[in-house]
Amino acid sequence: MKVFLDSARLSEIEAAIERRCVAGVTTNPTFLLEEAGARPLAHLRRVVGLIRPQRLPLNVQVMTIAPAEMIGQAEAIREALDYAGLVVKVPCGWNELAVIADLESRGFAVNGTACMSATQALMAAAAGARYVTLFYGKMSDTGIDAGAVIEDVAQALADAGDRCDVVVASIRRTYDVHECLRRGADAVTVAYRLLPGLCEHPKTVEAVRGFAESFVPLDVVGHSSAPRPADLLQV
Ligand code: E4P
Repeated sequence: MKVFLDSARLSEIEAAIERRCVAGVTTNPTFLLEEAGARPLAHLRRVVGLIRPQRLPLNVQVMTIAPAEMIGQAEAIREALDYAGLVVKVPCGWNELAVIADLESRGFAVNGTACMSATQALMAAAAGARYVTLFYGKMSDTGIDAGAVIEDVAQALADAGDRCDVVVASIRRTYDVHECLRRGADAVTVAYRLLPGLCEHPKTVEAVRGFAESFVPLDVVGHSSAPRPADLLQV
């Protein structure tokens, strides 16, 4: 399972790329408003500048709820970014399925996003979405067993031999990521604040403190400060 970064903040994207710990970046209109105000495409070009060397997929959502405007926006985003890794996010709905199908036929990779049910995800995949995004936290908020939905969608798409990947967003806790892994998600997209918790553990710190008591200077050949075995025995 891949981990994507759910952010449009340049410093966060840079820090994640430096660690090579994310396999993609997902943005949404809220993040872009916070980071870029009225210049979303200019900001997204800077994001592309950061992720282009690793060719990471970049998810960008259309900025309209009017299906008739979505195709034009997707084309404008594609032209402005000129980036092969672009993925256009289209929220799932009846009229939006036609948008997903149209975009797919125009060569776009589409993410059918904001899915709160298994059937929404399956319909988006059938329409040609390359990714479907399930909102884990928001589903859980309304009493839905989000883990079961992920499992059902992942299984159904695998059984159908579909090349559509299941992405899980709206991740609120570190452990949600493990649950997505167990349930067969292809990717989770997480806020930057959750990334350290995915690679740190208090018992790791405790273990390393124990090792630290045994640290000695490395006996690099030719290095004047390298300890001799006799020196170590005297400690
Ligand atoms: C998708 O773009 C985001 O991950 C999602 O909107 C965040 O959801 P939350 O506000 O429920 O955490």
